[in-house]
Amino acid sequence: MSDTAAKTYPPSDAMAANAHVDATKYDAMYAASISDPDGFWREQGARIDWIKPFTQVKDVDFTLGNVSINWYADGQLNVAANCIDRHLETRGDQTAIIWEPDSPEDEALHITYKELHAQTCKMANILRDLGVSKGDRVIIYLPMIPEAAYAMLACARIGAIHSIVFAGFSPDALAARVNGSEAKVVITADEAPRGGRNTPLKTNADQALLHCKDTVKCLVVKRTGGQTTWVDGRDHDYNALAADAADTCTPEVMDAEDPLFILYTSGSTGQPKGVVHTTGGYLVYAAMTHEVTFDYHDGDIYWCTADVGWVTGHSYIVYGPLANGATTLMFEGVPTYPDASRFWQVCEKHKVNQFYTAPTALRALMGQGNSFVEKCDLSSLKLLGTVGEPINPEAWNWYNEIIGGGRCPIVDTWWQTETGGHLMTPLPGAHAMKPGSAMKPFFGIKPVILEPTTAEELQGNPVEGVLCIADSWPGQMRSVWGDHERFEKTYFADYPGYYFTGDGAKRDADGDYWITGRVDDVINVSGHRMGTAEVESALVAHPKVAEAATVGYPHDIKGQGIYCYVTLMGGQEPTEELRKELRTWVRTEIGPIASPDLIQWAPGLPKTRSGKIMRRILRKIAEDDFGALGDTSTLADPSVVDDLIENRMNRS
Ligand code: WTA
Repeated sequence: MSDTAAKTYPPSDAMAANAHVDATKYDAMYAASISDPDGFWREQGARIDWIKPFTQVKDVDFTLGNVSINWYADGQLNVAANCIDRHLETRGDQTAIIWEPDSPEDEALHITYKELHAQTCKMANILRDLGVSKGDRVIIYLPMIPEAAYAMLACARIGAIHSIVFAGFSPDALAARVNGSEAKVVITADEAPRGGRNTPLKTNADQALLHCKDTVKCLVVKRTGGQTTWVDGRDHDYNALAADAADTCTPEVMDAEDPLFILYTSGSTGQPKGVVHTTGGYLVYAAMTHEVTFDYHDGDIYWCTADVGWVTGHSYIVYGPLANGATTLMFEGVPTYPDASRFWQVCEKHKVNQFYTAPTALRALMGQGNSFVEKCDLSSLKLLGTVGEPINPEAWNWYNEIIGGGRCPIVDTWWQTETGGHLMTPLPGAHAMKPGSAMKPFFGIKPVILEPTTAEELQGNPVEGVLCIADSWPGQMRSVWGDHERFEKTYFADYPGYYFTGDGAKRDADGDYWITGRVDDVINVSGHRMGTAEVESALVAHPKVAEAATVGYPHDIKGQGIYCYVTLMGGQEPTEELRKELRTWVRTEIGPIASPDLIQWAPGLPKTRSGKIMRRILRKIAEDDFGALGDTSTLADPSVVDDLIENRMNRS
């Protein structure tokens, strides 16, 4: 495989000498984590404070029909106490959260651990007064404001299970999650400023709540002061309540396996599923990966540019960093507002040491030219990270040279909503990096590459196939909310005995891992997961659409774009106007991130005689790679393919 010939970037001597983990330590720790997982994770369990110490460590069964995953099961703890209270004595006046608002004209906030404690307790008391108790669900639909972190931690404090809905999702998507989780309260804000524009969050919530039980309450945070309608009895003014709420609140004693949060994510079939993460193992794993992968040291300023609506924001803006007593930066805005230098200005302004972002943002910024970077002082940066999708060598090199000045290691972290934290990444003091490779498994992770059809494990190097994980780790999801059977079917049925990631991977001649992308019907648009089935069901819900099929295609900035083949109802005219209408329709049904990039009118879709759509063919046509369609003779009507090729939309 030619990848091994690629240039490698060994850690600098200084990095290797000062890092939490160097090469020798990695090898020894990794070996120990695999040969004695109980012993290894027993020791790591001491990273966090337990109200009642655990005696059991790992209790896991991956057998289909019997899947159960438990870590530290007899231990008791509280996540908010771990992220806040235990730091008060030693670092109460240290900044916990730096908040950088959408507009650089507005003032940034520095929230100390003491303030974080007071604000979280206030929010916790307000939620309790609204009738929320242990085990109840709370939906958080907020901009990237400090109250989002307060809300998460307040839920954790009182044992409520939060489910964050990204503020870019539509009222319909919000309603589905409120109903799916049977939430008691929705926490939202009047408006969400992003890139100089305000999204009317409360108005969206109002629309969503029309489709929810009328017992659901709405707690409204003031962000812009923009006008909102008010439903007496249902809506509650957070700022007024917080002014009077007590600023202490006793943390609930939680079992290690009590759920901490649900996060809805796209799969290859049906509606998004509620990924369930629990308390003890999740926190140990988030804290450890945050410290080791980013080589976080006391006093560092750490910035992850994700939104708390995604898992990256959960584990690496809030829970991991705060469990470690870090200073974590929360950014409300976008990389290109007011201009393409914003990320780098924020790095300079707050003297950021570790910077973690998505390849899609790097590609977009790279395209704007280096002048936006050169005017900023980036000398505080020590480490860079990426997440969400494979990074192409051009973007990697730009990140390394222009942003990192050639001195910062880049951790390419591969993981998923389901995994709770990093599963593969180079460690900055231990591994020579290869641009585009996720390199090595984290401690306790046993990646295996299987032959896709026979499920046989491919031994040796180099090999390529589907990526599974052979054993559990503490941050692993425990179930799909309300549907354990779907959990088992999605992750444990195709490759018995393994956790199936849905990704393909290769292991090169050196034994380093490269993620090749999803092998299921999930596409990765700007680092966000989108199920093709979701887009399709939105499209066919439109009265003029008879049938639709959606696939991904390579997109310069987004990584993958959304390509839809649409068959119209008889008598409907395929006009440019209708294209626009369908695009808007999908945006309202799901949200702007699901907006189709290309819509091709398809008089027919390629189907087998049994009526199954041949997506392989549609993918190839969307990739403009129709020379390699393979066997089309099994199609019910092979001639539809010629029409699709002739009218394809993505032509190079
Ligand atoms: C993809 C995001 C290549 C992968 C944390 C995975 C990546 C999906 C990487 C999960 C990476 C994530 N290199 N691909 N470093 N990181 N992916 O659940 O396909 O939003 O299965 O979690 O993103 O996306 P999710």
